Amino acid sequence: MSREKRERLLEIARREDLLIFEDNPYGQLRFSGEPIPSIYSMDTEGRVIMLFTFSKVLSAGMRLAVLFVANEDLMEVLVRMKQASDLCTSKLTQHMAARYIKEYGMEGHLKEIREVYRIKRNAMIAALEKYMPRDAGISWTHPEGGLFLWVRLPEGIDTEEMFPRALERKVAYVIGNAFFVDGDGKNTMRLSFSLNTVEEIDEGIRRLAEVVREELAAKQVGNLVG
Ligand SMILES: Cc1ncc(COP(=O)(O)O)c(C=O)c1O
Repeated sequence: MSREKRERLLEIARREDLLIFEDNPYGQLRFSGEPIPSIYSMDTEGRVIMLFTFSKVLSAGMRLAVLFVANEDLMEVLVRMKQASDLCTSKLTQHMAARYIKEYGMEGHLKEIREVYRIKRNAMIAALEKYMPRDAGISWTHPEGGLFLWVRLPEGIDTEEMFPRALERKVAYVIGNAFFVDGDGKNTMRLSFSLNTVEEIDEGIRRLAEVVREELAAKQVGNLVG
């Protein structure tokens, strides 16, 4: 979200007296471009709660998060809600994270993984450029951080329908439609570059491009060049 959008959102929250929950697990995974301040850091009225999770930077299995809450009254309510939902986050994983931070610190680790993900993002973009059919109206993002690319296929292609055919080739993605509240985004998908090696990313995109090519031919959409 751009700085302007963040400022505007805060403005609306002020005007309408709303709280903002800033779900921010990827903010520290920026590996290019200019850093943008969190909405939490722009807020002067205690109306933003920001979330950070260790799941994206230390280990996905930790299920351990940190809430940044400036408003103490709100904190009390949140603690009660948390207790009502699961009593308490595992103490074992809390100790693991605390020990890691104490012994190694987070900054060095973050610096290291940012570089790893930058390389993997570049590998995925290079593979898409190499294998995806050209001139078929396919586009993808060039994210400045995080773990994902957003791919848009031509209208008429349904990534949910295509999914089993990708799975047959042992490639999976998140069906884009899941990210929309209004049933839109049927021709989109989210690709993750976090887990696989650069070589696997290349092979995975090669296979996915084959599936897309077949889908385009079957649906007779796009101009199949390249
Ligand atoms: C945007 C966003 N927020 C929160 C989470 C939850 O992380 P956790 O593993 O700590 O529950 C995820 C993980 O998938 C995420 O993508």
